[in-house]
Amino acid sequence: MTYRRCGRSGILLPEISLGLWHNFGGGADEAECRAMVGKALELGVCHFDLADNYGPPPGSAEECFGRLLKRDFAAQRDEMFISTKAGHLMWPGVYGDWGSRKHLISGLNQSLRRMQLDYVDVFYHHRPDPNTPLEETIGALVDIVRSGKALYIGLSKYPPALFQQACAMLREEKVPCLLHQIRYNLLDRACEAEVLPTVAQEQTGCIVFSPLAQGMLTGKYLGGKLPSVSRAADTSSVFLNAEKVQADAERVQQLQNIASAAGIPLTELALRWLLRREEVTSVLIGARTVAQLEQCAAAAGQAPLPQDVLEAIG
Ligand SMILES: NC(=O)c1ccc[n+]([C@@H]2O[C@H](COP(=O)([O-])OP(=O)(O)OC[C@H]3O[C@@H](n4cnc5c(N)ncnc54)[C@H](OP(=O)(O)O)[C@@H]3O)[C@@H](O)[C@H]2O)c1
Repeated sequence: MTYRRCGRSGILLPEISLGLWHNFGGGADEAECRAMVGKALELGVCHFDLADNYGPPPGSAEECFGRLLKRDFAAQRDEMFISTKAGHLMWPGVYGDWGSRKHLISGLNQSLRRMQLDYVDVFYHHRPDPNTPLEETIGALVDIVRSGKALYIGLSKYPPALFQQACAMLREEKVPCLLHQIRYNLLDRACEAEVLPTVAQEQTGCIVFSPLAQGMLTGKYLGGKLPSVSRAADTSSVFLNAEKVQADAERVQQLQNIASAAGIPLTELALRWLLRREEVTSVLIGARTVAQLEQCAAAAGQAPLPQDVLEAIG
């Protein structure tokens, strides 16, 4: 595995990290989850990304990961970099969502209980809250670090100006933002205009999610296919379906043609293309099987993509 420094911090992250959004929930095969954590550690994929609401049902990914950690991987805790998040709807009532001090501190306490951990390595505010003063959210994050329940703070999906404001407040408190978590893939390049330059300016790390556009950039849906075991076919996931797959099919086919001409698997092309950006510290994949994890991890430490391939992608 190749590691990159996370902004100006002391932390190195693997070029490929493992996210547990949809692959460790209630319906997941726990033996496969255990095998994935084991294989990840063997490959040097030492960063595991969670959030309170990962599952489904919400909380079940943290519970599964916590059981596996306690049973099989406790001795390797210090070799692992574990994150969680709060800020999306998690529990009923008026405190179960967004960015208040109440929500963030209660949310992290619940996550630590589910994972049977004393602390996480990074705690994120999962999304900006338009109705809570930024000072309150940042104050809670700072206090969380000072309490020892998280070693570092991350922010997710913050628009550039708010991200800069938040970074300035965190710096002032001597709890600098470790990294920004954003969506970036060959089908969604919105972050290139402003978000990535802001990350560079703030000198934070940056970890990018849905690098394979939830599986579309593996080519598995090409030719109108809808594999029965796939995220798009899974009716418990509202984030990908046959219509969304169809909407991007033409562009994915173009990219598949470029990958085939270059002799590089499309999955690897998609991940190496993201790693071409030096602002990107790590690419956060959501593999569901050990085989998928191994294929994705193979994208780390590779030479830059050839110029003609980059030009063909555009
Ligand atoms: N901060 C945020 O708001 C936010 C939002 C979304 C995600 N995230 C984080 O980012 C992580 C990754 O997001 P993502 O799950 O959308 O990532 P992704 O890697 O783009 O998509 C994951 C899906 O791709 C398929 N896949 C992965 N590797 C494959 C391979 N080698 N061959 C074939 N199929 C492969 C699997 O699909 P099948 O299930 O079809 O086999 C898997 O479910 C999440 O787990 C989470 O930690 C954060």
